[in-house]
Amino acid sequence: MDMKTRIAALAAECMKSLWPDAEGLPAAEELRGLLAVPPDPALGDYAFPCFRLARPLRTAPPKIAEALCAAWNHAEVASVRPVNGYMNFFLNRENFAAETMAVLLSQGERFGSSDLGKGKTVCLDYSSINIAKRFHIGHLSTTMIGHSLKRIFDFLGYTTVGINHLGDWGTQFGKMVCAYKKWGSREDVESRGIDAMTELYVRFHEEAEKDPTLEDEGRAWFKKIEDNDPEAMEIFSWFKEVTLRDAAKVYEKLGVTFDSYAGESFYNDKMEPVIQELRDKGLLVQSEGAWVVDLEEDNMPPCLILKSDGATIYATRDLAAAIYRQNTYHFDKCLYVVAYQQDLHFRQVFRVLEKMGYPWAKDCVHVAFGMVSFEGEALSTRKGNVVLLDDLLDQAVAKAREIIEEKSPNLENKDEVARQVGIGAVVYTDLSANRIKDIDFRWERALNFDGESAPYVQYTHARCCSVLRKAGDLVNAAPDWSALTDDEAQALLRLLSRFPDVIREAADKYEPSMITRAVTDIAQAFNKYYYEHRILDGEPAQAAARVALTEATRAVIKTGLYLIGIEAPERM
Ligand code: ARG
Repeated sequence: MDMKTRIAALAAECMKSLWPDAEGLPAAEELRGLLAVPPDPALGDYAFPCFRLARPLRTAPPKIAEALCAAWNHAEVASVRPVNGYMNFFLNRENFAAETMAVLLSQGERFGSSDLGKGKTVCLDYSSINIAKRFHIGHLSTTMIGHSLKRIFDFLGYTTVGINHLGDWGTQFGKMVCAYKKWGSREDVESRGIDAMTELYVRFHEEAEKDPTLEDEGRAWFKKIEDNDPEAMEIFSWFKEVTLRDAAKVYEKLGVTFDSYAGESFYNDKMEPVIQELRDKGLLVQSEGAWVVDLEEDNMPPCLILKSDGATIYATRDLAAAIYRQNTYHFDKCLYVVAYQQDLHFRQVFRVLEKMGYPWAKDCVHVAFGMVSFEGEALSTRKGNVVLLDDLLDQAVAKAREIIEEKSPNLENKDEVARQVGIGAVVYTDLSANRIKDIDFRWERALNFDGESAPYVQYTHARCCSVLRKAGDLVNAAPDWSALTDDEAQALLRLLSRFPDVIREAADKYEPSMITRAVTDIAQAFNKYYYEHRILDGEPAQAAARVALTEATRAVIKTGLYLIGIEAPERM
């Protein structure tokens, strides 16, 4: 049991014994949620606001706080003091250290995991790249936030389904196939991949300016794709394959995986029933030749379902996808990790699902995020200004390699560590602020070994490992927890003990950055401890306690980094 839960249980008991007949007193669980952490540590480790009891007891909060404090008889756990209507708890430092360490050591790298999500499923739609488009820095957030959330939900016991909802549908693919047939070569597309496809597409538009009949040809090829014509499908599937081969390189570097690549084209044959259902439910109305769902009463523009030529669109596919996912995975949550620019699209889609009578529409969540710029320059797809993810990652590794060469010339596996640090630096930056905030990626910050960065946290992890290697037999000695009652150890223990709450909150708010923050705070607190105390010196039982604290820190940092998709080298 963690300390907060313990205090909550004891406080609930204390209330019950004081006022056995009162109704509406909070039970331990609610009480735990009410326990606040005072901003000033001089006011204690936790504070219970007695205002919550004012109504059920019909008494003023300061009086309640006094009565509770007088009745409290668990000094071995915490001493208490009434302050302005709060019951303030001051943990017994040695007891706190002993209890916290017992949990930390027994759970190790699983500390913070739970079975909260047992039997529940979360679908996560992330990365969701477009065919024949390059994978650039603008795709980093959807990929990494989604990947991290998947790990977080897994860690909390949920079943997760990672979906790369490929953008593999649209008239542009007809044009691309058409251009390929006219001017393309297999070798060129094989060797230059997306660059070659992009050039074909650009050429199509240039030539179509001179010869408008090309547009018809492009449309005809798209029709062939729609009708599953073997030749058209062969070329198009191969474009897809080339794109995914390219993306796979990036996914491998980032350690990102998916359970499904069912993208837009997957829903080709699954939209007809949805359209019929919309019609049957009287939701489909005609507007300027197109078929839409009217959302005026929701203060939104209509959701376009069928264009005037009968073609389906992005939203139609998302409706079919949501229904398919519910029928297939029976999700309890379906998360869409997509840039905030698509906010209206998702509000429309979710609202239409609601209007169709699906109660689970409320379980669909758009997990929006801000934009990424690079060294102060906004991203633009215009030539010269796109930062390709693959290049960025390679550069990060190369830069990390140089720094490591300089800092640790004797390190054995420099290449491997440079890979972990370089990739980690990029990922950390992406997950370092609230997701809705725009991010400016800067090398100096990302690779600053002394700042708030992946290398800093990773270095702290390696430092723990180094201490543990030197500790030898102390790892097995019986610890004297009274060695962990100093301010620095207590501050570190407090952060470690809150880690499970951080994970849950990160899941609740779909906010991996909370974990980034927590591991950074823990790393800083450990370094402070490390500079103020000589871990391996002195009494063996006392040293053993400090070594145990080091081991617990190592495990939590490793887990935290894992949850945000970053590796933890043991030597740096
Ligand atoms: N491919 C889309 C884009 O790049 C993102 C797809 C997001 N997922 C979805 N189910 N709509 O904008």
